[in-house]
Amino acid sequence: MPDRDTPAFFLGDSPRRPGSVSPTTTVLEYLRSVEHRPGTKEGCAEGDCGACTVVLGEPDGPRMRYRAVNACVLFMAALDGKQLLTVEDLAAADGGPHPVQTALAEHHGSQCGFCTPGFAMSLFALDRSGAAVDRAEAVEALAGNLCRCTGYRPILDAALAARPPDPEDTATAARLRALTAGGPLRMKYAEQAWHAPETLTDLAAALVADTSAVPVAGGTDAGVWVSKQHRRLNAIVSMEKVQELRAIERRDGMLRIGAAVPYEDALGELDALFPDLGAMVRRIGSRQIRERGTIGANIANASPIGDVPPALIALDAKLVLRRGAAQRTVPIETFFAGYRRTILTTGEFIESVDIPLPKDGRVFRCHKVAKRFDQDISAVCAAFSAAFAGGAVRDIRIGFGGMAATPARAHPVENILIGQPWTEASVRAAMTVLDATFVPISDHRARAAYRRLVARNLLYKFFLETAASTPRTRLVPAP
Ligand SMILES: Cc1cc2nc3c(=O)[nH]c(=O)nc-3n(C[C@H](O)[C@H](O)[C@H](O)COP(=O)(O)OP(=O)(O)OC[C@H]3O[C@@H](n4cnc5c(N)ncnc54)[C@H](O)[C@@H]3O)c2cc1C
Ligand code: FES
Ligand code: FES
Repeated sequence: MPDRDTPAFFLGDSPRRPGSVSPTTTVLEYLRSVEHRPGTKEGCAEGDCGACTVVLGEPDGPRMRYRAVNACVLFMAALDGKQLLTVEDLAAADGGPHPVQTALAEHHGSQCGFCTPGFAMSLFALDRSGAAVDRAEAVEALAGNLCRCTGYRPILDAALAARPPDPEDTATAARLRALTAGGPLRMKYAEQAWHAPETLTDLAAALVADTSAVPVAGGTDAGVWVSKQHRRLNAIVSMEKVQELRAIERRDGMLRIGAAVPYEDALGELDALFPDLGAMVRRIGSRQIRERGTIGANIANASPIGDVPPALIALDAKLVLRRGAAQRTVPIETFFAGYRRTILTTGEFIESVDIPLPKDGRVFRCHKVAKRFDQDISAVCAAFSAAFAGGAVRDIRIGFGGMAATPARAHPVENILIGQPWTEASVRAAMTVLDATFVPISDHRARAAYRRLVARNLLYKFFLETAASTPRTRLVPAP
C-alpha cells in the first residue's frame, strides 16, 4: 500500500488533511493559529494546568473511545486517524450549551472562565467513558485541571450533577477508518520527518534504518522538549500505531504490557493484580497525561524519579528489548546504565514489560512521596515485595526511586533481611543498612537527609503493615 504523506483526522465532524504543517507543531498551536479556535487555552504549555484540554476520539471496534488529553504536549502528526474535539464542538442536541456546560453554569463552576473550556472537555470525556461518576472518580478526572479563582467545590458539584447522556455515535469510527485507508503515515516537512509504522517488524526496521530517529510513544516527554525547550526533532518514528506494542495480556505466568500501552489502559490489570501499583500509577501526572503517557517510556527515559521502575524492580519484571529481528530479555534493574542512560544499543527499543503474576502469600506494597498528592513528581518512591515463612523473611526484593542516579534495587538491605525473623529488631538493623546503601542528592524536590529519612520510614511502614499485629498506617486501607 502507498504511504500517506499528511495526517488525516476529523476536527469535530469535518475531515482535515493539513498539507503543510510541521509534524511536531503542537495541537494547541494548530488550533489557535490555523483553525482560529481560541477556546483551547495555553496556561503552562507543559501538561500541568489543563487549560488546553481537548478530547481525542479513536476507533475501538465499531465504537469510539474518547480520551481527555493536553493539546500543548500533543504533536499534530499524532492526530492521524483520530477525531479531535474542542470546546467549540460542544453543543446540546437543540444547539444550546452542552449538558456539561449547563452543569458548570448552574453550579457556579466558572468565574474568569480561563480554565472552563478545559474543565468542560475533561467532564465531556468523563461522561463519554461511561464510568459511574462518584466523588472519587470526579476528583480523579479533574485533578489535571487547575482553577485559580472559582475553587473546586462548585466544579465538583457540576461534575456530580445528573446529565442526559450524549447520543451514541456509531458512524465516526467507520468514517475515520475510511479517511486513513492506505499505507502508514510518512510525512516530511522541511528537514523534519515523521514515520508511523503499523507493524512491529516495520517499526524495528525503521529504527535500524535511521539510527538518528527518535522513537516516540505518547509524546508527553517529547512534547515538553518542543513546547518548553524549543528543541527541534528532525526524525521521529512513532510507536503509537503498532498494535503489538498496545497489547496487554496474561500469558506464561506473566502480565505482558506492550511498551506503547498508555497508563490508563493498563490500570484495569494493574488494579486487579497489583492494587498498590494501580493506585500509584493513578498519581502519575493527570488523567490527561496518563491517557497518552506510556509505561515503556517511563522506563526508557531512565529518570531517577520515574514512578514505575522501582515497583517493577520489586516485582522482578523483565524487559523485552528488540533491535531489528533480534530480541533479548533483561531484568529491569540491569537496564539503567547511569543518570538518564540505559543499556539500549543504537536502533534498539523496549518492546514489552513482563511482570510475574502474583504468587500466593507474596506481599507487594509501593509508595510515592511527593509534595502534593496529585500532579507532582516524586521525591522518593519505594516498593517492596516479600514472602514470609514461619515468621521469617523467605525472600524480599526492594526498589527505590529518588535515592540514586537511577532507579535502584536495595541489594544490601535485602541481603540482611533474608532468613531473619520479621521483627522490629531485624527491620531496625535493615534501616541502618539502608542509610549506608544510597547517597541521594539534595535538590528543589527534597534534601538528601529528607530522602534518607523517608526511605527508612517506608521500610518501617512495610514492616508495620505486614507484621503479625498491624497498626493502621493508611487513611485508605491497603487493598
Ligand atoms: C505534566 C507531566 C506530568 C508528569 N508526571 C509524571 C509523574 O508523576 N511520574 C512520572 O514518573 N512521570 C511523569 N511524567 C513524565 C512522563 O509523562 C512519563 O515518563 C511517561 O511515561 C512518558 O511516556 P510517553 O509515552 O509520553 O513518552 P515519550 O515522550 O513518547 O517518550 C519519552 C522518551 O522515551 C523514549 N521511548 C519511548 N518509548 C520507548 C520505547 N518503547 N523504547 C525505547 N525508548 C522509548 C523516547 O525516545 C523518549 O526519549 C510527567 C510528564 C508530564 C508532561
Ligand atoms: S497549557 Fe497547561 S496543560 Fe497544556
Ligand atoms: S474560573 Fe478563573 S481560572 Fe478557573
